Amino acid sequence: MSDLPDKEFTNPRAEHGFMGRTCSISAVGAYVPERIVTNRDLEKIVDTTDEWITSRTGIKERRIAADDEATSDLGAKAALIAMERAGVTPEEIDFIIVATITPDMPFPSTACLIQQKIGAHRAAAVDIEAACSGFIYGLEIGQQFIMSRTYDCVLVIGAEKLSSIIDWKDRNTCVLFGDGAGAAILQHRPQAHGLLTACMGADGRKANILAMPGGGSLHPATEASVHDRLHYLRMDGKEVFKNAVTAMCRAAKEALKRCDITVDNIKCIIPHQANKRIIDAVGDRLKARPDQLFMNLDKYGNTSAASVAVALDEAVEQGKIERGDLILLVVFGAGLTWGAAVIEW
Ligand code: ACO
Repeated sequence: MSDLPDKEFTNPRAEHGFMGRTCSISAVGAYVPERIVTNRDLEKIVDTTDEWITSRTGIKERRIAADDEATSDLGAKAALIAMERAGVTPEEIDFIIVATITPDMPFPSTACLIQQKIGAHRAAAVDIEAACSGFIYGLEIGQQFIMSRTYDCVLVIGAEKLSSIIDWKDRNTCVLFGDGAGAAILQHRPQAHGLLTACMGADGRKANILAMPGGGSLHPATEASVHDRLHYLRMDGKEVFKNAVTAMCRAAKEALKRCDITVDNIKCIIPHQANKRIIDAVGDRLKARPDQLFMNLDKYGNTSAASVAVALDEAVEQGKIERGDLILLVVFGAGLTWGAAVIEW
């Protein structure tokens, strides 16, 4: 348990008359590919420097999946680790939710491919797409099924092979991203409040500032679309930065308010790992202490939907979070989408 003073927090679900059962994260797991690509490696392929990347983003290196390694392979490995830690067999999983913007293919879903790889043949399976906010969206969707007693065990996975949609000739974007996967097992745990609240939001008016325009029904893959590089991620970095800070702060404040707690009651804040400057700005505005903010983006870069899941796994493994602690997840991504969740661990 943490040495923080006990805080009686409001359970917002109960406040609104909700009579269902609570939903906890029983265990998490993460997997990142073995291959490390450093900033110095990138200096050899685009006009950039380790100094620029480090000072503008905090990223030092990222993991890049092998050619024959797909998003479902990363997700399945993270899932198996979480399942083992939770003591959950494949047959016990009722529902698999996979958050990703880099599915193995447009269809069938990556969730179905992971279901087969982990042998969870009884489970329903679906992909969701909320870009970097996908893991929190997935947790909130999954917990509804636990709270309503529809399912007893939900597996939520954030998995990405972003290296497959990065334009390796574009220094504005290729230095920022990496591959990886994180997974969480959701179950009811007696005597635990678990997921207390999740505030999610979206603003489709700003859809164009971060997008992969090609490969869908609007611009199907053609020789022309490939020629125009439409099947790569495109981003207006400055706009994304501004919107990220504003939306993450707003969502985090709303989540804390709903639980009737302040940032001081939070043991660990796990922000989306996109850019150290974004995280520092969010931390400043929330008046968080630096030791409350968890960061591992120096090792992995931005892994989109996997980002907070991988960070949560690492924070738990490093002993920064113990059962009973209050933690805050806060995310932002393309869409635009954003979200914050308060969890009693
Ligand atoms: N190496 C060297 N120079 C570079 C690089 C690079 N890798 N990339 C860009 N530059 C140059 C630019 O061309 C520009 O040069 P110019 O002034 O001659 O045109 C100069 O550096 C400054 O660029 P800025 O855009 O002003 O740099 P900024 O300080 O804004 O940092 C960054 C850029 C890191 C992209 C920042 O804007 C950022 O982090 N934005 C948010 C990105 C993000 O989080 N995206 C993910 C969202 S989550 C999701 O859903 C995937």
